[in-house]
Amino acid sequence: MKRFEGKNVLISGSSQGIGAACALRMASEGANIILNGRKFDERGQGIIDQITAMGQQAKFIAADVSDPKNVIDLVNGAIAAFGSLDALVNNAGVERNHDFWDVTEEEYDFVLNTNLKGVFFGIQAFVKYCKANNRPGVVVNMSSVHEEIIFPHFAAYCASKGGLKMLTRNLATELAPLNIRINNVAPGAVATPINQHLMETPELLNHVLKNIPMKRLGKPEEVAAVVAFLASEDAGYVTGSTYFVDGGLTYHYEEQ
Ligand code: NAI
Repeated sequence: MKRFEGKNVLISGSSQGIGAACALRMASEGANIILNGRKFDERGQGIIDQITAMGQQAKFIAADVSDPKNVIDLVNGAIAAFGSLDALVNNAGVERNHDFWDVTEEEYDFVLNTNLKGVFFGIQAFVKYCKANNRPGVVVNMSSVHEEIIFPHFAAYCASKGGLKMLTRNLATELAPLNIRINNVAPGAVATPINQHLMETPELLNHVLKNIPMKRLGKPEEVAAVVAFLASEDAGYVTGSTYFVDGGLTYHYEEQ
């Protein structure tokens, strides 16, 4: 029996990177997937084709999750797509690199609205659906090691991921009576398009690798494996946690 046989899963920001890896991993275990991105393009079509080839169904719903109205429509559209929704993976996320004193309100809103506000109202729409239909549910939020450790010049990003940490801790208690579990996955440095500049700049990459005990970047598939675990019944007693997928980065100690 595949872990997600007959389950329908919505994954935000799933045209590429970690979100796409989650879609492929969960589809390979029997899930039908609702993919999302700001717009539908050949990347989304490519993921649909791969999922269809596995014998599962996939649909793409274009929506900008930084806008609460759009994210609520996305969740409701996902419920309508296959008639029910079992799991929500809030993966879409953005970052901006600026000295704190140069961050504009626009940039702050761009990061916070995508990484926190949209997630908040997306979960709310999913919970209302589960509650109204007396269904269990699972939420996995793509957080970051920066829900825990600092990242100078990325203050808005850290604020958003730090907010996700407490949102998940708080909702675990509030949603447990509804039979809804919620957890975070906190990747370290993963080889995806968000890290293009890092991967193309050897000094920067070496500096990052110095702080990673495993001395390599993570693969999107390694993050997806943990997301699939948390979304599955194998994690039936896990809620309110953060699982770090970081090669040891968060709590490393560099021997002199
Ligand atoms: P990515 O940039 O490769 O993919 C993110 C996807 O989300 C893109 O397809 C993008 O178009 C989509 N997206 C962004 N804003 C959106 C919006 N408003 N509405 C709909 N879709 C939107 O990034 P990656 O690396 O796959 O990151 C995924 C998540 O993992 C993010 O939340 C990120 O913060 C987190 N993360 C990534 C790390 C890494 O090293 N790659 C490390 C720690 C956390």
